[in-house]
Amino acid sequence: MGENISDYSQNIVDLRRHMWMDGVEVELRRLIWQIAVVGKYISAKIHESNRKLAGFKNIYGEEQLALDRVSDDILKSKLHHSGFVSHYASEELDDIVAIGNGKEKYIVTADPLDGSSLVDTNLAIGTIIGIHKNSIFDCGRNSMVAALYITYGPLITMIYSAGKGAHEFVLDREGEYVLSEENIRLKEKGSIFSPGGLRRDWTDAHLKFIDKLESDGYKLRYSGGFVPDINQVIIKRGGLFTYPALKKSPQGKLRLLFELQPMAFIVEQAGGRATDGKEDILSLKVASVNQRAPIYIGSAAEVAMAGEFLSQSL
Ligand code: AHG
Ligand code: MN
Ligand code: MN
Repeated sequence: MGENISDYSQNIVDLRRHMWMDGVEVELRRLIWQIAVVGKYISAKIHESNRKLAGFKNIYGEEQLALDRVSDDILKSKLHHSGFVSHYASEELDDIVAIGNGKEKYIVTADPLDGSSLVDTNLAIGTIIGIHKNSIFDCGRNSMVAALYITYGPLITMIYSAGKGAHEFVLDREGEYVLSEENIRLKEKGSIFSPGGLRRDWTDAHLKFIDKLESDGYKLRYSGGFVPDINQVIIKRGGLFTYPALKKSPQGKLRLLFELQPMAFIVEQAGGRATDGKEDILSLKVASVNQRAPIYIGSAAEVAMAGEFLSQSL
């Protein structure tokens, strides 16, 4: 016989109860909950996806999977006139759009489906969300109030932070997000690294940094999906993910607004750091929705080490 119902209700903390206990403001609680529910719809779409390229190109000139656009449509329509969201910006749209009457409290940024090129391989992919209380055209430290990401893997997990620590939930059989790891804290130093970009495109300073990690015995962990790759660093409580400045693209590949700010918010709440090699990601001012930045994110020691190697190149 499984746990009896009374045990179930007392020992299990679900997402809504945790946010209430955490003192998260009621409209923010409802917004985070709504987005967590969308994760279930997106997961259903992944399961039934036809995995065909949509024949579209996003503003970065990258092929868009039907799944990218479906995920974006689901998220945007769920938040449209939700009462909490005035504007929505996503990696799949050319610009920020109004989805409320303009008086709502929050602005939501989204990478609706991160790692979509991996869908056909059945590797884990994810959704990345940033929640801002005022203009997104500022630095994240001023505008952000919460962030979350959902990992669609063997389990569906969600890590959120509303500024009071970072916490993980697992979607259970009953469709409830149940607390699995509370107040996640990264160690000062880890033992894995996740290096994006091609070695031949790395700058000399970055190459020397990666060689140092390898000679120090760090294990390489890279899937090509930012969400599962950074999730591994967080769940293993340390290590480093990087997608650096490249010789031909000094701003690297990942999007500041949709991918880097939310992950930097969460990792800082877990006691880690996130920089572009020099500046904190959350201190970078967002000038345009499609702005990119190099990223070094994870436990403090490795991010600091990266900064030392890169400063020697100046
Ligand atoms: P998206 O699927 O949202 O476009 O993101 C893909 C990104 C990110 O998930 C990952 O870290 C990076 O692309 C991988 O780039 P490479 O294929 O160059 O390794
Ligand atoms: Mn992405
Ligand atoms: Mn994406």
